[in-house]
Amino acid sequence: MTIEYSNETQKQYEFMEKASGYVAELAKKLGRTPTCHVVTFGCQMNAKDSEKILGILKRIGYEAIESEEADFVLFNTCTVRDNANQRVYGRLGVLNGFKRKNPHMKIALCGCMMQEQEVIDKIRKSYSFVDLIFGTHNIFKFAELVCAVFESKSMIVDIWKDTNEIVEDLPVERKYAFKSGVNIMFGCNNFCSYCIVPYVRGRERSRNPKDIIREIENMVADGVVEVMLLGQNVNSYGKNLEEPVTFSELLKEVEQIEGLKRIRFMTSHPKDLSDELIEVMKHSQKICRHLHLPLQSGSDRILKAMNRRYTKAQYLELVDKIRTAMPDIAITTDIIVGFPGETKEDVLETIDVVKKSGFENAFTFIYSKRTGTPAAAMEDQVPEDIVKENFDLLLKAVQETARNNTGHLEEQIVEVLVEEPNEQDTSMVTGRMSNNTLVHFKGSKDLIGQLVNVRLKTCYGFYYVGEPV
Ligand code: SAH
Ligand code: SF4
Ligand code: F3S
Repeated sequence: MTIEYSNETQKQYEFMEKASGYVAELAKKLGRTPTCHVVTFGCQMNAKDSEKILGILKRIGYEAIESEEADFVLFNTCTVRDNANQRVYGRLGVLNGFKRKNPHMKIALCGCMMQEQEVIDKIRKSYSFVDLIFGTHNIFKFAELVCAVFESKSMIVDIWKDTNEIVEDLPVERKYAFKSGVNIMFGCNNFCSYCIVPYVRGRERSRNPKDIIREIENMVADGVVEVMLLGQNVNSYGKNLEEPVTFSELLKEVEQIEGLKRIRFMTSHPKDLSDELIEVMKHSQKICRHLHLPLQSGSDRILKAMNRRYTKAQYLELVDKIRTAMPDIAITTDIIVGFPGETKEDVLETIDVVKKSGFENAFTFIYSKRTGTPAAAMEDQVPEDIVKENFDLLLKAVQETARNNTGHLEEQIVEVLVEEPNEQDTSMVTGRMSNNTLVHFKGSKDLIGQLVNVRLKTCYGFYYVGEPV
């Protein structure tokens, strides 16, 4: 099959050709293959973007290594909470030391943090050794930007405010041979009042179903058995396409792909989760029994101020509907503690939802003030010590609930997709059940990428230890 490349894709392949020449020259100078290293902060979207960047770096002649002491180092940044930003600044200092020893070293920064003007100003002023900065909207131009770096002595900064462009068919270097993320949409239109994502990722844009299906078919031909469909709010997928398609319709098409074994997706906004989706999941052989359904808060007053557009009662009703349709499903969530104006009573409401929903797992975050979001300008930001106290209270409830709700599968036989050697014990491997719970069991690393039947022996809170059958 020959693929018709778009003009932009064609152009970027020409830049890859040109960049290969520059890398070959550098190899001659160094007397060895130049090395690269990509560090990813943040979410699955960033992880996917990093695979695209690494795909291009390898194609133009760099060899990927595990160390940050490489000839080309790129940080793909996140700005959803301030601690993500601070980690980037800290590690940039270390890179400066490496660059002093290796004058050929190139340092690049991209990702969500770079969409903020204050960040760019700070890097220009205090981190002038950086060679390249680009953002989230022009990542498809990476090959072109690498050429510019080789052709210039000064810092290259290329940030776009927004775009409607989606460039297909560029190279990708997958981290795992057997599973992969697949972007189905970019950006977000929800503007939850605490969240920076809509400002740094732009407006919602969906990929064409046929491009998504073709990408997955190619992955499956290349050994992938599990895909994770990625979007900030997958439940609103396809609404703005020329020929609108629903997320459920897309799932039904993905289900038809022969050889694909498992389908996951992230993230579902509760306000848009349709009955049609529940039906499709219920009857699917491939869609995993897991839903990540961010709650954020269980207090109606706070939910309103967060602009989440659902109430505590609506959320609980939805969980009930999902669990009734699929009793074996695991529901996980995200919760923020310390949103402006939050009181102990609000936190108790959240804990009530945690207990009633029986979350199998929950990611709890301390509210971080993001400049430019409506919540940053709200009065009554909550003092740190109160936030800490509420956070501990919530964490305890979350852990108790998870422990009570994960353990009920002991002695059952489940299918596990083996993902990696066990970190602590080399005679064991680690994999995931359909419901996303981790399972460790005795086995060799030849099993990686395979679906294995395992009897679950003991549950240790968030994970199981089992035996292959
Ligand atoms: N699109 C996804 C979430 C993306 S951000 C959704 O709507 O569910 C991932 C998580 O980070 C969010 O669910 C939220 O819990 C958390 N988060 C976002 N902004 C935050 C902030 N300013 N402070 C603390 N946590 C935040
Ligand atoms: Fe942020 Fe809300 Fe969009 Fe999620 S849905 S990315 S929390 S604005
Ligand atoms: Fe972070 Fe950007 Fe993802 S801000 S959470 S990397 S969309």
